[in-house]
Amino acid sequence: MLSTTHPPSPSIPDTICYLNGDFCPLREAKISVLDRGFIFGDGIYEVVPIYYGQPFRFDQHMARLERSLAELRIPNPHSRAEWLRLVRKLVDELAKSSGQNVRQSQQIVYIQISRGVAPRDHAMTPNSTPTVFMMTNPFKPVSPEVRAAGVKCVSAHDFRWEKAHIKSTSLLGAVLSRQLSADVGATETIMFRGDFLSEASSSNVWVVKGGAVYAPPKDHLLLEGIRYGLIEEICKDQNIAFELKKLTKQDVFNADEILLSSATKEVLPVSQIDEALVGLHTNHPGKPGPVYKALHAAYQACIDKNCKAP
Ligand code: PDD
Repeated sequence: MLSTTHPPSPSIPDTICYLNGDFCPLREAKISVLDRGFIFGDGIYEVVPIYYGQPFRFDQHMARLERSLAELRIPNPHSRAEWLRLVRKLVDELAKSSGQNVRQSQQIVYIQISRGVAPRDHAMTPNSTPTVFMMTNPFKPVSPEVRAAGVKCVSAHDFRWEKAHIKSTSLLGAVLSRQLSADVGATETIMFRGDFLSEASSSNVWVVKGGAVYAPPKDHLLLEGIRYGLIEEICKDQNIAFELKKLTKQDVFNADEILLSSATKEVLPVSQIDEALVGLHTNHPGKPGPVYKALHAAYQACIDKNCKAP
């Protein structure tokens, strides 16, 4: 008999995932080769952090998932309450299989919805049933050593498309961009469209100058991370000036501090971009600065307030 699939890779974790209505071992989950997610990258995704067994900023993640689906004209297969139930079940399963109390469990949930299976044709297929896939993995927080040192990044031209606000599974642009930093052992690729900062390959970028926090406007040229709203809230709370505006290369290379944010990085300080130390003219050149420290502490406090059991 012809073998139609690769043998399960030992690197695939032995966990339970969700696929189209069923919970099954991740190693056994299979989709059709004609799935439009596979053929065209015709789908969207979300990455939701779980702290103490609780999804963090779940409503905001669901709102972005709804916006992405609407852009692709894919009907949302579930209500928010159903999504929450599925996420909780998956999170419970991973905690159970690792012998952990779910209220101590930190995880990262991945949700993907594609347009579904149909004969190959670029035009949208209105009658295909969306493919829904979810998995979860233990959350691996950035180590205190890396946080204390900050991370190196490289700068590059943002050659991705002009609908970067959609959290699309068509991630070739992100993969090629990220590899530019991976090739030199750096953590992220900070991207510019012409002279203007957009974002990094899988994180948003923040510029700190004179004690104020700046980020590029939320438009079609970048993905509005769920941390966009959160960092704005934290800044208000901490009386840190906050502004969204177009930022130039000069703004970035003259910044006092540069930060990255994402579900997995949380808020992370950048120590160096290309050959240049960040904050060269401050009293903390190439080291995390005071605004990073304030934001990181407030971020952790926000997790504790919203997710930690009383
Ligand atoms: N990436 N910009 C891009 C291009 C991203 O891919 C991400 C997240 C972000 C930050 O979004 P959020 O704060 O919602 O995580 C910004 C995720 C984590 C990923 O692709 O794995």
